[in-house]
Amino acid sequence: MTKPSIHTLLSKAVKKLPRLEVEILLCHILGVTRTYLLAWPEKFLTAKQYSQFQTLLARRVEGEPIAYITGYKEFWSLDLQVTENTLIPRPETELLVEQALARLSPGALVIDLGTGSGAIALAIAHERSQCRVLATDKSIAALNVARANAQRLGLHRVQFLISDWCSDLGDIKAELIVSNPPYVAIADPHLKGEVRYEPHNALVAGKDGLADIRRLIAFSQSYLVPQGWLLLEHGYDQAEAVRVLFKQHTYESITTYQDLAGIPRVTVGQKTSSFL
Ligand SMILES: C[S@@+](CC[C@H](N)C(=O)[O-])C[C@H]1O[C@@H](n2cnc3c(N)ncnc32)[C@H](O)[C@@H]1O
Repeated sequence: MTKPSIHTLLSKAVKKLPRLEVEILLCHILGVTRTYLLAWPEKFLTAKQYSQFQTLLARRVEGEPIAYITGYKEFWSLDLQVTENTLIPRPETELLVEQALARLSPGALVIDLGTGSGAIALAIAHERSQCRVLATDKSIAALNVARANAQRLGLHRVQFLISDWCSDLGDIKAELIVSNPPYVAIADPHLKGEVRYEPHNALVAGKDGLADIRRLIAFSQSYLVPQGWLLLEHGYDQAEAVRVLFKQHTYESITTYQDLAGIPRVTVGQKTSSFL
């Protein structure tokens, strides 16, 4: 097998994939930055590196998300490990982090329900060293990835708990509960795209995609202090239904925020002072 140079390999592979993706795969295999590829285009790959590249290229061409191929995804400038047991954190979820940070005072307890790779909990812990953060998930495999991410990032104060939404929280009361729950309807055609590689139980929530959101709005209130906040991410067409659910459960100051694409993405509500 002839070993190609970085330049030759890039120019061939861009016929199959966007250049940025090719560069990410190549950097992953060579253990270098993209600047290195620009600085040393004449360098040759070893036979082993070339064969590894061909394998990863084929996986990406098949549609596997690049984050599962490299095992990492950046979220809130944190490099997070992701596996087939965790959702790949999305940029729009940073809106949930922003809205949580805007409501947190020092010493507050925050619970991230359905933490997956730990994205939301770890971003909050990274920004607010004086807050207490509890991250939960029903999936042990996902929680292990989140725990490993916390260790690697030195965010040792974050605590982890296996829990089916609120059922194992005990008698905890938090100032803020945040969640990016599954919210895709079971028959949604988008599930046939690249997301087919992601865990079904991280994405799908019943016939209308609202099954988990209903449970979260109904049960979270008992785990919030009076005037505590519940912040939820939801689908592009679910904001109205989510606001109605918040209202039915007597939340106040209900507001929906749009993500950078102008899509209503996060709805928040405040527990009334009278609800014990
Ligand atoms: C959409 S993913 C969000 C992951 C992560 N918070 C993020 O934003 O990248 C939903 C997460 O909820 C978890 N989950 C699903 N059903 C759950 C339940 N009944 N109780 C707790 N967590 C659940 C899944 O395992 C998954 O990690």
